[in-house]
Amino acid sequence: MKYETVHGLSVPKIGFGTWRIGGESYADPKADPASLTALRTALDAGYTHFDTAESYASGHSEELVGRAIRETNAKRENLFITTKISPEHLQYDQVLRSCEDSLRRLQMDYIDLYLIHWPPRAALELNDAFRALNQLVRAGKVKHLGVSNFKLKLLKQAQSLSETPILTNQVPYRLPDKTYVENGVLEYCQQNDILLTAYSPVKFRNLPVNKTVRLIAETHAATPFQIALAWLVAQPRVITIPMSLDPRHIRENFAAAEIELSKEEFKTLSELY
Ligand SMILES: NC(=O)c1ccc[n+]([C@@H]2O[C@H](COP(=O)([O-])OP(=O)(O)OC[C@H]3O[C@@H](n4cnc5c(N)ncnc54)[C@H](OP(=O)(O)O)[C@@H]3O)[C@@H](O)[C@H]2O)c1
Repeated sequence: MKYETVHGLSVPKIGFGTWRIGGESYADPKADPASLTALRTALDAGYTHFDTAESYASGHSEELVGRAIRETNAKRENLFITTKISPEHLQYDQVLRSCEDSLRRLQMDYIDLYLIHWPPRAALELNDAFRALNQLVRAGKVKHLGVSNFKLKLLKQAQSLSETPILTNQVPYRLPDKTYVENGVLEYCQQNDILLTAYSPVKFRNLPVNKTVRLIAETHAATPFQIALAWLVAQPRVITIPMSLDPRHIRENFAAAEIELSKEEFKTLSELY
């Protein structure tokens, strides 16, 4: 695995997303066996970064992440757990309560990275949220803070309110979606030691049939999806968190970090969409 190091912390280039683990918007116990198989496969393959949220499957995703980790006896200190607070819980007391609820569901005593999932409905709520988030870091319940889906102005505001460096901005980023390149967020992150965590990195309709990607994939004896991940991995300050319920895809996604694209391949891919 390759790593990005920011503020003395090394974070794996590829982690495991958990949207659909345990259900989608609501808990779906029927999804538990497949979800636990996916999490165990990921732990077994060597993933150490797991990305979840209080909203995923109404908190059941966090419960299953915690359960899979306990059942596989993975060492807590070797793992990096990200979870997220929902935008409707950004008042001071709500932040503290959400964090306690996430810790209880995960059955952990700290969260490595705690993100504000979506911008607040009113910009002033951010002050209140960071008052509580800073307190959680001081109390050791949260190691690092970050945000998600934040445009540049709000990201800078978060930086000014956080007592510790904003570790990441988690945003959509994949070959055909360069919104956060075009709006200047990626460049700002790269210049200011902030990780850009690319979500939905392999959500494609036509990727396998795209001739250019397919040819590059053949050169590396890889799949087009692995090439889409390798393109993200090649970028400084970018990490990513693909999700899959398919054990083969889970292992392929992890292995994609080892693919070395040539400068020409990287350029071709960058100009593709
Ligand atoms: N912060 C936010 O607002 C936000 C929003 C969205 C997502 N996220 C996070 O980012 C994670 C990833 O995003 P995502 O789940 O939306 O999308 P994604 O990981 O880009 O795509 C998931 C889809 O791709 C398929 N897939 C994965 N690997 C594959 C492979 N190697 N070959 C073929 N198909 C593959 C999966 O199907 P199979 O199961 O069949 O493999 C699944 O249908 C989420 O799980 C979540 O943790 C965050």
